[in-house]
Amino acid sequence: MSKKLIESKVTKLCRTRPCMIITTLHENGIINAGTFGAYTNVGPQEIAIAIGKSSHTYQNIKRTGEFVINIPHIENADTLEICAIKTPPTESELDHAGMTTEPATKINTPLIKECVANVECHYWKELDVGSHMLVIAKVICGHLEEQYLDIDGSIDVIKAQVPFGIRYPYPVYATLSNVTKV
Ligand SMILES: Cc1cc2nc3c(=O)[nH]c(=O)nc-3n(C[C@H](O)[C@H](O)[C@H](O)COP(=O)(O)O)c2cc1C
Repeated sequence: MSKKLIESKVTKLCRTRPCMIITTLHENGIINAGTFGAYTNVGPQEIAIAIGKSSHTYQNIKRTGEFVINIPHIENADTLEICAIKTPPTESELDHAGMTTEPATKINTPLIKECVANVECHYWKELDVGSHMLVIAKVICGHLEEQYLDIDGSIDVIKAQVPFGIRYPYPVYATLSNVTKV
């Protein structure tokens, strides 16, 4: 079968990662939460995320030097949509989504309690990639619901039913199934 030539928004063909919610602190102490899918691990302690320069997330990370990556369960897919809506700094997206928080261990930014995993991060460096900044962070420590710990020490994304963003905008979220063990 012939393949269609795609020449616009080509990176949509490489959409292979679960979605995450990044929490940061506004200057007034209110928690900001944004949805992100353009990221990859670039080392054992390093993660790179493409973050819109005009986003609250980027501005808060630059001011505080820290943030938390929160990995939701598919049951909280609606939260991903709520956290993608620009909300004034006087309100928290998490209140709109009915999510609650708990303190982090090593930084000031709180974790989302209902998420299956949370990773505390320190800003390290960035690369200007146009409308977005590729923010590279050092991970400080993580929290994972024990039942979702895989034998290689990673999160079992199948068991934890983490949502992958299949379409944006016009959202569709899905979990992995049909596993092949070789
Ligand atoms: C599934 C999904 C994935 C997204 N991935 C990204 C991303 O990787 N980078 C980005 O800058 N925005 C991404 N967005 C858009 C942001 O969530 C949106 O701009 C949001 O308003 C940012 O929140 P903030 O201004 O509170 O930081 C994504 C949205 C959705 C729904």
